[in-house]
Amino acid sequence: KTLADLGDLRGRTVLVRSDFNVPLDGTTITDDGRIRAALPTLQALLDGGAKVVVTAHLGRPKGAPEEKYSLAPVAARLGELLGQDVALAGDLVGESAQATVAALTDGSLALLENVRFDARETSKVDAERAELAAELAALGGGVDAFVSDGFGVVHRKQASVYDVAQILPHAAGTLVEGEVRALDRAISDPERPYAVVLGGSKVSDKLGVIANLLEKADTLLIGGGMVFTFLAAQGHEVGKSLLETDQIETVRGYLARAEEKGVTIVLPTDIVAAEAFAADAAHEVVAADAIPADSLGLDIGPESAKAFAEAITASRTIVWNGPMGVFEMDAFAGGTRAVAQALVDATARGAFTIVGGGDSAAAVRTLGFDEAGFSHISTGGGASSSCSRARPCPASPCSRTEEDPKMSNSR
Ligand code: 3PG
Repeated sequence: KTLADLGDLRGRTVLVRSDFNVPLDGTTITDDGRIRAALPTLQALLDGGAKVVVTAHLGRPKGAPEEKYSLAPVAARLGELLGQDVALAGDLVGESAQATVAALTDGSLALLENVRFDARETSKVDAERAELAAELAALGGGVDAFVSDGFGVVHRKQASVYDVAQILPHAAGTLVEGEVRALDRAISDPERPYAVVLGGSKVSDKLGVIANLLEKADTLLIGGGMVFTFLAAQGHEVGKSLLETDQIETVRGYLARAEEKGVTIVLPTDIVAAEAFAADAAHEVVAADAIPADSLGLDIGPESAKAFAEAITASRTIVWNGPMGVFEMDAFAGGTRAVAQALVDATARGAFTIVGGGDSAAAVRTLGFDEAGFSHISTGGGASSSCSRARPCPASPCSRTEEDPKMSNSR
């Protein structure tokens, strides 16, 4: 169901789940892409005269308030982008939330404080999540409808995502609708050759995705921190690089399956190896099978970047998930920049290109690429990966409550 299916919402209280899990430097939002992506749905509801109550999470607090995870910076930025006041409730379903929602007038919006400040949000106990969902649904004397528009979190079995939809009339927002349409095009019937560029730090984050892609893609290009587990699986030394020893056997299985299925796996042939994980660390380009014992790989090398670009150029559908290196540090941004440029060139030649994953989306914007250069930039990280399973993502929610290893501060 989409927004249109909810009918006339004038004067109605509508609960919206958005994904405002944005990167922060202190209290400064360094990439507001996810907030901007939420605007069409929120604006449509406001224009339709609804009283809009938004829930969202930031980072992975442990079920209790933590100032560094407050949505205050998000409320301020959302207000600027909407050009109207956004009231931020001091809690989720407590006195502050109740008073804030009660004060809403038609065409106004309130944001509730971080949903993950309440332990019931991510509880594995169904009854606990259901209880929180019921309290959310009772706000403002009773919410009339729920709109699921936090695509980045839509795969989570959590109270504000999954359980509220069990008790309220509900629909997908325009962001979720557009994401599903674009990802479906890449998954159901991709124009071939179909290349997938995978990066990011860990193989273990993408196990299901890789297994699934081996059945679908023609070419798999592997970069980022996960590449060292692949190199180790081929018997190479990787020095002090990120290595998941417990995944080496799994990766050997992937390599064997790729051969069986005729899927080309392209690994880097050179690596930018540094003395330390630091922007100003001494570094050199070395062969991928000769990483010095006291170095760690922080980017794919220029020869590999060229080979990756050529493989991208030869493809008609390209999905990219995960940076090739530590793009936040200029010395190690070359691989990510080259892949982004190759996707832009491919788009210009008529290929269908998707940037999926919060980090890759942030990378293209931080590196100064125009979003219009890609067919689709997904707001989802794990969500766009879940979409590469054979079933629709909203039907297969999963819970994950542990600390995200990639998140340092609030994200
Ligand atoms: C994301 O950043 O991928 C989404 O906001 C989901 O966050 P989560 O992985 O902490 O559930």
